[in-house]
Amino acid sequence: MIELRDIHCVRLGTKNLDQAEKFATEIVGLQSVNRKEKLVYLRSDWRHHSVCYFEGETSEQSVCFELKDWRALERSLQQLEQAGIACGQGTKQQAEERYTYDFGWFDDLSGNRIELFVRPYEANRPYHGVRPTGIKGFGHIGLNSSDPERDQEFWLSHFNAKVSDWIGPAPLLRVKNVHHQLALFPTQKGPGIQHINHQVETIDDLMRAVYFLQSNGIKIVFGPGRHITSGGYFLYFEGPDGMTYEFSTSDRHIIEDDENHRPRQYPMEAESFCVFGAKPDIEEFKE
Ligand SMILES: [Fe+2]
Repeated sequence: MIELRDIHCVRLGTKNLDQAEKFATEIVGLQSVNRKEKLVYLRSDWRHHSVCYFEGETSEQSVCFELKDWRALERSLQQLEQAGIACGQGTKQQAEERYTYDFGWFDDLSGNRIELFVRPYEANRPYHGVRPTGIKGFGHIGLNSSDPERDQEFWLSHFNAKVSDWIGPAPLLRVKNVHHQLALFPTQKGPGIQHINHQVETIDDLMRAVYFLQSNGIKIVFGPGRHITSGGYFLYFEGPDGMTYEFSTSDRHIIEDDENHRPRQYPMEAESFCVFGAKPDIEEFKE
């Protein structure tokens, strides 16, 4: 069993680094902590960064989790290798670029690149965005899956992941006692990150974002609404390179009794995503 502590960050390739940085800072409200020629690190909380954009293909994306046991990298990679999963050890230079002490990588069965971080760097200065967004920190991601049943089995059998709820075939998975850090959405688009969530303090922050995004010509693709699963208020909007960003308050849903939590099955319908009845303009959230 590979024990993950939490989701840590995402790495996103972009053809237009300036545009990506501008959106991440001015629109999302992240803090650019280190801009280099070909990459930029964006902070939202206690982590050194939660988003890293680098110059590259937009298909080059990875999701990074922190290993619970900092001594477990070698045996984690061995376990994956024995299961026939493409995986490898990161180089020292790649680790430095990721602001983590060490790391390994693997490709899940849908072809998503996942990285396992050991001792990722903390922020040594507090996060502050360029405008008051109420951002509390990085929350979770949605991930493309060509077969959610198969990929769910992969995450459940190799990792400490547990199902908190399902919407249709899509499992919302947790590796800690917060409702979800990873959700697998069915699509034939190929591998990729389906959405990136940051948590905000209050519904006021969320509603303020609605009007801010509208006045800046940013397309809202779902919400404002409230998830029936986590109970969190949410807002999804369109970012650069076709990426969907989300603000929500869903991390307030703490799984009190982890062992006995009963995952609920909801139908794959718009009503299962929003109790208010907001309709998603997000392909993977439609029936
Ligand atoms: Fe989400």
